This record gives sequence, structure tokens and C-alpha cells, in this order.
Amino acid sequence: MSREIKSQNITYTEGAVKHEHRAEQNGHGAAILWFTGLSGAGKSTLAQAVEQKLFLMGCHTYILDGDNIRFGLNRDLGFSPEDRTENIRRIGEVAKLMMDAGTICLTAFISPYIADRQAAREITPEGKFIEVYTKCSLEECERRDPKGLYKKARAGEIPQFTGISAPYEAPENPELVVETDKHSIGECVDQVVAYLRERGVLPNGD
Ligand code: ADX
Repeated sequence: MSREIKSQNITYTEGAVKHEHRAEQNGHGAAILWFTGLSGAGKSTLAQAVEQKLFLMGCHTYILDGDNIRFGLNRDLGFSPEDRTENIRRIGEVAKLMMDAGTICLTAFISPYIADRQAAREITPEGKFIEVYTKCSLEECERRDPKGLYKKARAGEIPQFTGISAPYEAPENPELVVETDKHSIGECVDQVVAYLRERGVLPNGD
């Protein structure tokens, strides 16, 4: 799908309320926590748990989740490489808007292609895109199989299934790696929250 801008005679208007104003009012910075990994690796579970913790701290948060977004905004997209790229392009744009509005936006999409994640990173202001590789072996994802999809994919009932008949390109240089087959969800949440403190998105001592 082309990334060219079709409209002509459009002008970008900068808002008078800036990032730093919103951050001051909210008591925390804005960022995108971009969870990527295989289906069943724990992206949604982890994003939910991190969001709950941040919410209880009083942070402004919002989750964009693969399956949920495919019921609405991206209902016209399937799982071909082109559709996945468009899926991630739109999510990158929406996450950027959320971040621009001052929230900590958490996204939970397989986002299997390095180039697509890189494109989402590139439209985000420097340092605001935090890629969280939700790492889990294919064997363990398949053992968990929470939606029964690996079983179907192995039986040839789901074409182009990530990890089985479609690729997953692991991040080469993510900000964070959480290993859900080695650590508990609680430990992974603490790791993410500690990183947000370290980066100054969250104030120290919260
Ligand atoms: S992505 O590859 O375009 O980033 P996304 O995260 O939106 O995928 O959606 C993945 C979810 O869709 C999976 O967790 C699973 O529930 C479902 N799904 C259905 N078909 C497939 C498929 N062929 N490959 C991967 N996930 C699929």
C-alpha cells in the first residue's frame, strides 16, 4: 500500500498546547509502549497488566489491541503481508495521536515485520517509541495456545499463521526484552514500569 499523501493543498497546524504542558498537567510523560511478539506470547496480557498498574498510579493510558482493532478500525484488513503492513501503519498513526494527547499508549500487535515497526518508530518523536519484545518460544506459545489457533494452523485451517506459515522477524535492538516463558507476568510488569521510571516517563518514587 502506498504511503504517499494523496491530498494536496493541506497545511499542518501545530497545537498551542505542547507536550511539556500536557506532561506537567498529567504528572507524567507520554510514550508508546509497543509490544511485539508471537501470538500467545503474552502481549495483551502484559499490556493489560502494565496498564492497570499505571492507571492505579493515576497515569493517563490507553491500549490498542490487535484482535480488538480488527473488529473496528481495521475490519477491512486480513493477514496478508500487505494487510499486516497497513494494519501496523494505521496503528502507528493512532498510537502517535494518543501519545500526542499526553497518554502512555500501549499497543499489542504481533507486528511481525521489522520494517513496519521501524516505520511506526520513525513517525514518533525521538525517544518516545519504546519497543517491548515480548519474547516466548514458539513451543511455549503453541503449548499455551489460548485461542486454539496454533492447533488450527497446524491442521492447515488457518493460512499464513505467524510462526507456522508466516514469518515473525524478532526485534534486533528493542528498548526492552521481556521473557514471558522465563518470568512471571508480575516480574515482566515490574521490568516495564522500572524502565519507564528510568526513562523519566514516570516520575521517580511513584
Ligand atoms: S499483525 O500481524 O497484523 O500484527 P495482529 O496483532 O493485528 O496481527 O492480530 C493477530 C491476532 O489475530 C492473533 O493474536 C490471532 O488471535 C489472530 N489471527 C487470526 N489469523 C491469524 C494469522 N493468520 N496470523 C496471526 N494471527 C492471526
